[in-house]
Amino acid sequence: MLFYFTGTGNSLYIAKQIEENPLSIPQMIHREPLHYNDDRIGIVSPIYGHELPQMVKDFLQKFIFQSKYFYIILTYGNRHGGAAELTKKFCDDCGIHVDYMNVIQMVDNWLPGFDMDEQKKIDKNVEQQLHNIIADLNVKKSMISPVTENNRAAHQQFLERMNQTVPGLWQHLFRITDNCIGCGICQKVCPSASIRLMERKAVYFSGNCQTCLACVHACPQKAIALTVPEKNPQARYRNGHISLQEIIRANCQFLSA
Ligand SMILES: Cc1cc2nc3c(=O)[nH]c(=O)nc-3n(C[C@H](O)[C@H](O)[C@H](O)COP(=O)(O)O)c2cc1C
Repeated sequence: MLFYFTGTGNSLYIAKQIEENPLSIPQMIHREPLHYNDDRIGIVSPIYGHELPQMVKDFLQKFIFQSKYFYIILTYGNRHGGAAELTKKFCDDCGIHVDYMNVIQMVDNWLPGFDMDEQKKIDKNVEQQLHNIIADLNVKKSMISPVTENNRAAHQQFLERMNQTVPGLWQHLFRITDNCIGCGICQKVCPSASIRLMERKAVYFSGNCQTCLACVHACPQKAIALTVPEKNPQARYRNGHISLQEIIRANCQFLSA
Protein backbone atom coordinates (compact mmCIF):
# COMPACT_ATOMS: atom_id res chain seq x y z
CA MET A 1 0.00 0.00 0.00
CA LEU A 2 1.48 3.32 -1.10
CA PHE A 3 0.10 6.84 -0.65
CA TYR A 4 1.29 9.95 -2.48
CA PHE A 5 0.80 13.69 -2.73
CA THR A 6 1.71 15.59 -5.88
CA GLY A 7 1.44 19.03 -7.45
CA THR A 8 3.33 18.58 -10.71
CA GLY A 9 3.73 14.82 -11.02
CA ASN A 10 7.25 14.12 -9.69
CA SER A 11 6.01 12.30 -6.61
CA LEU A 12 3.29 10.50 -8.57
CA TYR A 13 5.90 9.29 -11.06
CA ILE A 14 8.06 7.89 -8.26
CA ALA A 15 5.05 6.31 -6.54
CA LYS A 16 3.99 4.62 -9.79
CA GLN A 17 7.45 3.13 -10.26
CA ILE A 18 7.29 1.62 -6.77
CA GLU A 19 3.69 0.31 -6.86
CA GLU A 20 1.16 -0.15 -9.63
CA ASN A 21 -1.81 1.61 -8.03
CA PRO A 22 -0.65 4.17 -5.51
CA LEU A 23 -3.37 6.01 -3.57
CA SER A 24 -3.75 9.79 -3.63
CA ILE A 25 -3.65 11.44 -0.21
CA PRO A 26 -6.01 14.32 -1.25
CA GLN A 27 -8.60 11.64 -2.13
CA MET A 28 -7.96 9.19 0.71
CA ILE A 29 -7.87 11.80 3.46
CA HIS A 30 -11.66 12.16 3.25
CA ARG A 31 -12.40 8.43 3.37
CA GLU A 32 -12.92 5.66 5.88
CA PRO A 33 -11.41 3.52 7.30
CA LEU A 34 -8.97 5.53 9.34
CA HIS A 35 -6.93 2.43 9.85
CA TYR A 36 -4.59 0.78 7.32
CA ASN A 37 -2.96 -2.57 7.73
CA ASP A 38 -0.54 -4.00 5.16
CA ASP A 39 2.73 -5.85 4.89
CA ARG A 40 4.40 -2.73 3.55
CA ILE A 41 3.06 0.85 3.73
CA GLY A 42 4.74 3.82 2.04
CA ILE A 43 4.35 7.54 1.46
CA VAL A 44 5.80 9.51 -1.46
CA SER A 45 5.65 13.28 -1.08
CA PRO A 46 7.39 16.45 -2.19
CA ILE A 47 9.07 18.56 0.46
CA TYR A 48 7.98 22.16 0.98
CA GLY A 49 10.45 24.26 2.95
CA HIS A 50 12.29 21.04 3.91
CA GLU A 51 9.13 19.56 5.44
CA LEU A 52 6.04 17.60 4.45
CA PRO A 53 3.10 19.50 2.91
CA GLN A 54 0.45 20.26 5.54
CA MET A 55 -2.03 17.79 4.01
CA VAL A 56 0.47 14.95 4.25
CA LYS A 57 1.10 15.85 7.88
CA ASP A 58 -2.66 15.88 8.50
CA PHE A 59 -2.97 12.47 6.84
CA LEU A 60 -0.20 10.97 8.96
CA GLN A 61 -1.75 12.44 12.10
CA LYS A 62 -5.29 11.36 11.32
CA PHE A 63 -4.75 7.75 10.19
CA ILE A 64 -3.37 4.69 11.94
CA PHE A 65 -0.87 2.61 9.99
CA GLN A 66 -0.09 -0.95 10.98
CA SER A 67 2.74 -2.49 9.03
CA LYS A 68 5.93 -4.44 9.47
CA TYR A 69 7.66 -1.99 7.13
CA PHE A 70 6.80 1.72 6.87
CA TYR A 71 8.74 3.91 4.44
CA ILE A 72 8.76 7.50 3.17
CA ILE A 73 10.29 8.82 -0.05
CA LEU A 74 10.70 12.60 -0.24
CA THR A 75 11.07 14.26 -3.64
CA TYR A 76 12.90 17.58 -3.69
CA GLY A 77 14.48 19.90 -6.20
CA ASN A 78 17.54 21.68 -4.99
CA ARG A 79 18.17 21.52 -1.25
CA HIS A 80 16.52 19.06 1.14
CA GLY A 81 17.71 20.87 4.26
CA GLY A 82 17.65 17.72 6.37
CA ALA A 83 14.08 16.87 5.39
CA ALA A 84 14.52 13.23 6.38
CA GLU A 85 15.43 14.17 9.94
CA LEU A 86 12.58 16.70 10.22
CA THR A 87 10.11 14.19 8.81
CA LYS A 88 11.38 11.43 11.09
CA LYS A 89 10.85 13.72 14.08
CA PHE A 90 7.32 14.51 12.88
CA CYS A 91 6.53 10.80 12.51
CA ASP A 92 8.01 9.98 15.91
CA ASP A 93 5.70 12.62 17.41
CA CYS A 94 2.73 10.95 15.65
CA GLY A 95 3.78 7.55 17.01
CA ILE A 96 4.71 6.24 13.55
CA HIS A 97 7.83 4.11 13.38
CA VAL A 98 9.59 4.73 10.06
CA ASP A 99 11.81 1.88 8.86
CA TYR A 100 13.13 3.54 5.73
CA MET A 101 13.28 7.15 4.56
CA ASN A 102 15.10 8.47 1.53
CA VAL A 103 15.19 11.61 -0.59
CA ILE A 104 15.23 11.84 -4.38
CA GLN A 105 16.28 14.92 -6.31
CA MET A 106 14.14 15.89 -9.30
CA VAL A 107 13.05 19.06 -11.14
CA ASP A 108 12.50 21.90 -8.66
CA ASN A 109 9.00 23.23 -9.37
CA TRP A 110 9.30 26.23 -7.00
CA LEU A 111 8.74 29.08 -9.44
CA PRO A 112 10.14 31.95 -7.32
CA GLY A 113 13.46 30.11 -7.15
CA PHE A 114 13.79 28.36 -10.47
CA ASP A 115 13.28 28.79 -14.20
CA MET A 116 11.47 25.65 -15.35
CA ASP A 117 13.08 25.78 -18.79
CA GLU A 118 16.51 25.62 -17.11
CA GLN A 119 15.45 22.97 -14.57
CA LYS A 120 14.22 20.66 -17.32
CA LYS A 121 17.69 20.72 -18.93
CA ILE A 122 19.51 19.53 -15.78
CA ASP A 123 20.14 15.80 -15.54
CA LYS A 124 19.51 14.97 -11.87
CA ASN A 125 20.07 11.25 -12.43
CA VAL A 126 16.53 10.43 -11.33
CA GLU A 127 16.48 6.92 -12.79
CA GLN A 128 19.64 5.85 -10.94
CA GLN A 129 18.39 7.33 -7.65
CA LEU A 130 15.06 5.56 -8.16
CA HIS A 131 16.76 2.27 -9.04
CA ASN A 132 18.72 2.40 -5.75
CA ILE A 133 15.59 3.19 -3.73
CA ILE A 134 13.59 0.34 -5.31
CA ALA A 135 16.48 -2.05 -4.61
CA ASP A 136 16.45 -0.92 -0.94
CA LEU A 137 12.67 -1.36 -0.68
CA ASN A 138 12.82 -4.83 -2.24
CA VAL A 139 15.04 -6.05 0.59
CA LYS A 140 13.12 -3.98 3.19
CA LYS A 141 16.27 -2.12 4.10
CA SER A 142 16.25 -0.14 7.37
CA MET A 143 17.72 3.32 6.89
CA ILE A 144 16.99 7.00 7.46
CA SER A 145 18.76 9.15 4.86
CA PRO A 146 21.75 10.82 6.59
CA VAL A 147 21.62 14.52 7.43
CA THR A 148 24.69 16.75 7.76
CA GLU A 149 25.38 19.85 9.85
CA ASN A 150 25.27 21.84 6.60
CA ASN A 151 21.75 20.53 5.93
CA ARG A 152 20.66 21.57 9.42
CA ALA A 153 22.27 25.01 9.00
CA ALA A 154 20.43 25.44 5.68
CA HIS A 155 17.14 24.73 7.41
CA GLN A 156 17.91 27.21 10.20
CA GLN A 157 18.72 29.91 7.62
CA PHE A 158 15.47 29.12 5.86
CA LEU A 159 13.49 29.47 9.10
CA GLU A 160 15.16 32.84 9.81
CA ARG A 161 14.25 34.06 6.30
CA MET A 162 10.67 32.86 6.80
CA ASN A 163 10.43 34.80 10.07
CA GLN A 164 11.11 37.96 8.09
CA THR A 165 8.37 37.41 5.50
CA VAL A 166 4.95 39.00 5.73
CA PRO A 167 2.66 36.82 7.89
CA GLY A 168 0.14 34.94 5.73
CA LEU A 169 2.13 35.51 2.54
CA TRP A 170 1.84 31.83 1.55
CA GLN A 171 -1.93 31.97 1.69
CA HIS A 172 -1.93 34.93 -0.69
CA LEU A 173 0.56 33.61 -3.18
CA PHE A 174 -1.64 33.64 -6.28
CA ARG A 175 -3.31 36.21 -8.46
CA ILE A 176 -5.73 35.28 -11.26
CA THR A 177 -5.09 37.54 -14.23
CA ASP A 178 -7.39 38.61 -17.06
CA ASN A 179 -5.89 35.83 -19.19
CA CYS A 180 -8.23 33.38 -17.43
CA ILE A 181 -10.63 31.82 -19.96
CA GLY A 182 -12.59 29.86 -17.36
CA CYS A 183 -11.46 26.42 -18.56
CA GLY A 184 -11.54 25.10 -14.97
CA ILE A 185 -8.32 23.08 -15.13
CA CYS A 186 -6.99 24.89 -12.05
CA GLN A 187 -10.05 23.84 -10.07
CA LYS A 188 -9.58 20.21 -11.12
CA VAL A 189 -5.89 19.96 -10.23
CA CYS A 190 -6.18 21.65 -6.84
CA PRO A 191 -5.87 19.09 -4.00
CA SER A 192 -7.55 21.34 -1.43
CA ALA A 193 -10.44 22.95 -3.35
CA SER A 194 -8.74 26.32 -2.93
CA ILE A 195 -9.52 27.49 -6.44
CA ARG A 196 -12.99 27.42 -7.97
CA LEU A 197 -14.74 28.59 -11.09
CA MET A 198 -17.26 31.32 -10.40
CA GLU A 199 -19.07 33.06 -13.22
CA ARG A 200 -16.65 31.37 -15.64
CA LYS A 201 -13.56 32.74 -13.96
CA ALA A 202 -11.17 31.15 -11.50
CA VAL A 203 -11.36 32.48 -7.96
CA TYR A 204 -8.75 31.69 -5.34
CA PHE A 205 -9.78 30.89 -1.74
CA SER A 206 -6.94 31.05 0.73
CA GLY A 207 -6.81 29.20 4.02
CA ASN A 208 -6.37 25.58 3.06
CA CYS A 209 -4.05 26.10 0.08
CA GLN A 210 -1.08 23.69 0.11
CA THR A 211 0.96 25.99 -2.20
CA CYS A 212 1.68 22.93 -4.35
CA LEU A 213 1.56 25.18 -7.47
CA ALA A 214 -0.48 22.56 -9.36
CA CYS A 215 -2.88 25.27 -10.55
CA VAL A 216 -0.13 27.63 -11.66
CA HIS A 217 1.81 24.97 -13.55
CA ALA A 218 -1.28 23.42 -15.19
CA CYS A 219 -2.98 26.61 -16.38
CA PRO A 220 -2.86 26.54 -20.21
CA GLN A 221 -3.17 30.35 -20.34
CA LYS A 222 -0.50 31.05 -17.70
CA ALA A 223 -3.27 33.09 -16.15
CA ILE A 224 -2.32 32.34 -12.55
CA ALA A 225 0.57 34.54 -11.50
CA LEU A 226 2.46 34.58 -8.23
CA THR A 227 2.34 37.61 -5.95
CA VAL A 228 6.11 37.22 -5.46
CA PRO A 229 8.67 37.52 -8.30
CA GLU A 230 9.10 34.44 -10.50
CA LYS A 231 12.30 33.39 -12.24
CA ASN A 232 10.46 32.87 -15.54
CA PRO A 233 6.71 33.60 -15.64
CA GLN A 234 6.50 31.98 -19.07
CA ALA A 235 7.91 28.60 -18.05
CA ARG A 236 5.75 25.94 -16.46
CA TYR A 237 6.32 22.27 -15.56
CA ARG A 238 4.71 18.88 -15.34
CA ASN A 239 6.69 15.66 -14.96
CA GLY A 240 7.16 14.26 -18.47
CA HIS A 241 5.85 10.78 -17.53
CA ILE A 242 2.61 12.08 -16.01
CA SER A 243 -0.46 13.33 -17.88
CA LEU A 244 -2.72 16.20 -16.91
CA GLN A 245 -5.54 13.66 -16.45
CA GLU A 246 -3.45 11.82 -13.86
CA ILE A 247 -2.90 15.03 -11.87
CA ILE A 248 -6.66 15.69 -12.08
CA ARG A 249 -7.49 12.16 -10.90
CA ALA A 250 -5.04 12.54 -8.05
CA ASN A 251 -6.21 15.93 -6.83
CA CYS A 252 -9.68 16.86 -8.03
CA GLN A 253 -12.00 17.57 -5.10
CA PHE A 254 -15.13 18.00 -7.22
CA LEU A 255 -16.51 14.62 -8.24
CA SER A 256 -18.56 16.08 -11.07
CA ALA A 257 -15.65 18.15 -12.48
C1 LIG B 1 5.86 25.33 -1.81
C2 LIG B 1 7.06 24.58 -2.30
C3 LIG B 1 8.18 24.49 -1.49
C4 LIG B 1 9.29 23.77 -1.91
N1 LIG B 1 10.36 23.66 -1.06
C5 LIG B 1 11.45 22.97 -1.46
C6 LIG B 1 12.58 22.86 -0.60
O1 LIG B 1 12.60 23.32 0.54
N2 LIG B 1 13.68 22.23 -1.07
C7 LIG B 1 13.71 21.68 -2.32
O2 LIG B 1 14.74 21.14 -2.70
N3 LIG B 1 12.64 21.72 -3.15
C8 LIG B 1 11.51 22.36 -2.75
N4 LIG B 1 10.41 22.42 -3.57
C9 LIG B 1 10.43 21.67 -4.85
C10 LIG B 1 9.64 20.35 -4.76
O3 LIG B 1 9.86 19.69 -3.53
C11 LIG B 1 10.02 19.39 -5.90
O4 LIG B 1 10.02 20.01 -7.14
C12 LIG B 1 9.09 18.17 -5.88
O5 LIG B 1 9.69 17.11 -6.58
C13 LIG B 1 7.74 18.46 -6.50
O6 LIG B 1 6.96 17.30 -6.45
P1 LIG B 1 5.59 17.14 -7.23
O7 LIG B 1 5.91 17.31 -8.70
O8 LIG B 1 5.14 15.76 -6.90
O9 LIG B 1 4.66 18.20 -6.77
C14 LIG B 1 9.30 23.13 -3.18
C15 LIG B 1 8.17 23.25 -4.01
C16 LIG B 1 7.06 23.95 -3.58
C17 LIG B 1 5.86 24.05 -4.49
